[in-house]
Amino acid sequence: MPRKPRKRLLKLASLLFLLAVALTSCQTEKREATEETVTIVFKHGKLAGGPEALRAILARFEAENPDIKVKDEVLPASTDEQHQFYVINLEAGSPEFDVLSMDVIWVEEFARAGWLRPLDGIFPPEEREDFFAGPISAVTYQGSVYAIPWYIDAGLLYYRKDLLEKYSMPVPRTWQELVSTAKLIMEKEKDIYGFIWQGKQYEGLVCNVMEYMWSRGGGLIDEDGRFNALKKENIEALQFIYDLIHTYRVSPPLVTTAMEETTRHIFGSGRAIFMRNWPYAWKIFEREGSAVKGKVGVTVLPAFEGYSSAATLGGWQLGVNRYSPHPEAAERLVRYLTSYEVQKEMSIKMGYRPPRRSLYEDEELRRAQPFIVELYPVFERARPRPETPYYMMITQVLQPEFSAAITGLKSPEEALRSIQRQVEYILKLEER
Ligand code: GLC
Repeated sequence: MPRKPRKRLLKLASLLFLLAVALTSCQTEKREATEETVTIVFKHGKLAGGPEALRAILARFEAENPDIKVKDEVLPASTDEQHQFYVINLEAGSPEFDVLSMDVIWVEEFARAGWLRPLDGIFPPEEREDFFAGPISAVTYQGSVYAIPWYIDAGLLYYRKDLLEKYSMPVPRTWQELVSTAKLIMEKEKDIYGFIWQGKQYEGLVCNVMEYMWSRGGGLIDEDGRFNALKKENIEALQFIYDLIHTYRVSPPLVTTAMEETTRHIFGSGRAIFMRNWPYAWKIFEREGSAVKGKVGVTVLPAFEGYSSAATLGGWQLGVNRYSPHPEAAERLVRYLTSYEVQKEMSIKMGYRPPRRSLYEDEELRRAQPFIVELYPVFERARPRPETPYYMMITQVLQPEFSAAITGLKSPEEALRSIQRQVEYILKLEER
């Protein structure tokens, strides 16, 4: 008899033991899972056409990488504001974001400051060969790569196919032709702007102005590498931009306060004949319910008579914050977002153009967007803004001077002379 309760007691004790073991192992398992799951923050500018497509891509990344969660944080659309955010936070060594999207003009500056993790290990030279040369040069600093190109931009001319057909006008190949065609149609159609573009005092203005200078045989840097703003070609280019608004009156004064999205909205509501913009806009015009669906053509920008068309190179690259507490997870996200498949999806669904050249031969992409073939040479020839870690200092000089010239506050010559004087000073700093 006395053995029975002891047996029961023993049984109870072993049961309790087993339960305790089960509970602790459960707890350790749970702890391990949470310890292994990291949350990384991905900062990027507002993307055109709504956030859903990117969210779907990130959700797939999380499903394929169950140990990583991605928090996606959106900055304002303007590149200048985004730059300001990064400079303030990276200067302070902020670990609060892991992956960042960078304009083509900042990577050298950030790399020089030591704010980016070198990515040579995950972006080997053989893979770089498939990318357009412009963005690769932009992400390379002193022989190392500091970001992987995400999407590429170049200035394009959007035009209303239906209106050109209605008045039997060809697609303009020179700036002068664009002015005369715009004038002719504006006289016949009521309440329509001729030509809209980005003329606000910000980075987009520099991109626009450079395209006129280059397509007039000018530019800011001479063949020998010297900065040389004050020359006849540049004076004529700036004068022409001023004339678009004040003399020919094909561009409304509102262009001097317009950014990409302002012009995209105006053109998209059917209120302009021509527009200069980046490639992203086309996909939005072709959406169901768009007022200009099926009526929009896209082509290379015009040039001045006797010169060749030129487009400014733009685009965004993904890098890893040097202060990220989760660099390995961050690198995995960068690899994923810049992969062949994701770049293809972003092109088809969002209208962002891939920097990987092989995608321009992808059957599926060509079927979905046949005109992508024509963009290839534009991207290949797109011209960079001055490539230097001091670019942001230079553009702070260019923006107000270009703005003053196109609004008539200064003559083109005065603006260019002032640019030359100020930039020479900055470049002396660079030499030190
Ligand atoms: C686009 C381009 C970028 C450029 C900016 C100007 O985002 O990709 O390179 O600096 O426009 O507004």
